This record gives sequence, C-alpha cells and structure tokens, in this order.
Amino acid sequence: MLKVHSHAHVLIPKSLSGFCPIYNNRVKNLGILLSGRGSNFEAIADNVAAGKIPAQISVVISNRADAGGIESAKRRGLNALVIPSKGVPREEHDRRVVKALQDHGVDLICLAGYMRLLSPWFVQQFPRRILNIHPSLLPAFPGLEASKQAFDYGVKVSGCTVHFVDEHLDHGDIIVQKVVPVLDNDDDHTLAARILEQEHIAYSEAVRIVLSDSFKVVGRRVVATAQ
Ligand code: GRF
Repeated sequence: MLKVHSHAHVLIPKSLSGFCPIYNNRVKNLGILLSGRGSNFEAIADNVAAGKIPAQISVVISNRADAGGIESAKRRGLNALVIPSKGVPREEHDRRVVKALQDHGVDLICLAGYMRLLSPWFVQQFPRRILNIHPSLLPAFPGLEASKQAFDYGVKVSGCTVHFVDEHLDHGDIIVQKVVPVLDNDDDHTLAARILEQEHIAYSEAVRIVLSDSFKVVGRRVVATAQ
C-alpha cells in the first residue's frame, strides 16, 4: 500500500514512511531549548541517533552558559548555542532565539527544561510546532517543582505530560501522559526520579506522533491516527 504525503513529489511505501528519516522530501529538523542538565534532550538525541525518531537535531540552544545540556550537545557534535537571557528584555531575547531557530531551519521545537516563559509572539511564530514536557499530570500542579508539589499534596499517582505550547504556562493540547504511582516509602526525590524515567520515554513518543503528521486534536486531546 502506498502513501502520498500532501507535499511530497514521490510515493513513499507506507511501511517505510514512519521510520525513514527522509520523507516529505527532506529530513525534519528539531530545535532543542534547555536551561539545565538536559537529560530529556539526551534521551531525544539518543533516539535520533538510534534511528528511532525520523529527524535530526539541527540546533540546541540554552539561555544559560552553565547548562549541562549544552556541554552534552557539544560532545555529541551538535550545533550548540548559548543565547544569554540575563539582563536582556524578554522580547529581545525571544527575537534572538527565534532567529537562531529559523536560521537552522527548525521544524519542531522541544522545550527540555527551558526555564523561560515564551512570549505570545514567540509561540505564534511556530503554531503547533513547540512541545514542552512537565513532571506532573496536567492540569494538576503546573509551575515549578511540580513533583514536589504533587508529593506534598499527598497524591497517590502522578506522572508527566508532553503538550503543545500555547500562550499560557504548562497549558496546551496534551500529546502524551505517563502515570507514575506514588509509593508508600517515596520522598519527593525518589518520586521525581521515577517520573524522570517516564519523561524520557514520553518525550520521544510525542515527537514521533507530531513528526508523523498523523494525528488529530479532539478537544484538547491529541490523538494519533493510523499512518
Ligand atoms: C524535567 O523534569 C522537565 O519535566 C521539566 O524540567 C526538567 C528538566 O530536566 N520541564 P532535564 O534538564 O531534561 O534533565
């Protein structure tokens, strides 16, 4: 059975289109924004390198020079940029970041521990093209220290959420969620560590769904459709 992508000039066998990095005539470019250790970035980069995500990482950008993730990006031979945010007006910083993403031909942006709120203007430059990961089952516990918030509240299950970014904090249509039970002997650190393991799985799943272009949004829920 053959699948014709709307923009493609070639026919791509359906069996290949989900796995082959080259479809729609070129490889899709991911842009990663981070501020810290970058373990979610590393999980995505490992899956890209293993051919499990049909894309390449065209740029990794940090707003902090001391982010561990930027060192890791350099070690991997990726384009790694520091665009400092300290002391720079938000709109000016956003303009610089958007320019760098555009210069690198980014199709899809992954926020991976990027500790900055994007301005509405930034979000509008990439409609349904920015993903974020958050360590709770949204809409519960948005904001900082989400797994500690959940633990302190006394919930019995928590987890993580990958969602499209819109103009509001930790909001936007939900692509993937993973549930993590809270164990009786957990503290907020052990819970956060088990949630992080699930984040590393969830983010790549969500990237694959969005890159496939085979999804629909039902209400606020992103539903993968057959490829
Ligand atoms: C993760 O918990 C993510 O959910 C949140 O920030 C943290 C980033 O961790 N948005 P890392 O830098 O990817 O290791």
